[in-house]
Amino acid sequence: MAVDELIGLLKALETVGASAMRAASGAEALEALRTEYLGRKGRITAILRRLGELSAEEKPVVGAEANRVKAALDALLTERETAFAGTANEGPRVDLTLPGRARWRGGVHPVTLVIDEICDIFRDLGFSRVAGPEVETVDYNFSKLNTPLDHPAADMHDTFYLQDGVVLRTHTSPAQAHVMEHFQPPVRVVVPGMVYRRDPYDASHAPAFAQLEGLAVDEGITFADFKATISEFVRRFFGADAKTRFRPSFFPFTEPSAEVDVSCRICAGAGCSACKHTGWMEIMGSGMVHPNVFEAVGYDPEKYTGYAFGMGPGRIALQRYKLPDIRLLYEGDMRFLGQFA
Ligand code: PHE
Repeated sequence: MAVDELIGLLKALETVGASAMRAASGAEALEALRTEYLGRKGRITAILRRLGELSAEEKPVVGAEANRVKAALDALLTERETAFAGTANEGPRVDLTLPGRARWRGGVHPVTLVIDEICDIFRDLGFSRVAGPEVETVDYNFSKLNTPLDHPAADMHDTFYLQDGVVLRTHTSPAQAHVMEHFQPPVRVVVPGMVYRRDPYDASHAPAFAQLEGLAVDEGITFADFKATISEFVRRFFGADAKTRFRPSFFPFTEPSAEVDVSCRICAGAGCSACKHTGWMEIMGSGMVHPNVFEAVGYDPEKYTGYAFGMGPGRIALQRYKLPDIRLLYEGDMRFLGQFA
């Protein structure tokens, strides 16, 4: 009877002890378990004290079982202690050879980088940065800008209509009208923002892209002021060696109108595929604000003159970062954008 009981106790001790040892969180916990189970005042010793209750034939049977359990627990303890060797604390083991987990770092989008840089330069030249709505009425997008809807220039833009008379702005120029309706001269603003056109989607066109409008109105502003301001901007943005060229052009809301070219940043004017072998890159449309625009917004065209310009920060980003395709800027591919972080 006592034999079976003691052998049962030893087997239970083995089971409970082994699972406690497997769950132990560190060297210190194992040390405590060694004392608890195998120590001189430990649990196995406590059972062996009862050998006296047994007959001479029974003693070796229980003694042998006690030795087997002792050896098994001792082996397990040693194995677990080796596993923890060298780790002083009781935290989980750290495998220092595992590759690190890289952390995502946010970055500023290349078009935003260009916009911020342009606005910073114009801030130094006295311009404030403002915003305008992306949803416009045809009134603001066209009519107030001396562009009646039956004017051929209204077709220049392939317009997204949201509903009758409401469009996604095809350019940032309607912001000119908003600014002039809200503020009296002198006015000097830059207005970056997205514009929308039903353009094909290819390496150099996107249906949604960034524009940056500029407007300066005061008494006595001349085209010479415009040339000086833009030449200074080009030097600061593109570098002291960058040359500026003004070409006659046409926009309904400016007269005279000009397109502004910068000597190609890639071939320095020698001619390459990026500038289509002209040596020049077009960076903006511009001109002196048309008197009809002043009238439409309530400015006195006899008193005030001014200039306006509109450039494409996306196109400029292509040149600055030597990118082959404008779609890279608008598709949110992290492998591309991550390089600007
Ligand atoms: N809004 C014109 C365009 O989108 C650019 C421009 C702006 C031209 C201001 C003249 C003055 O092409």
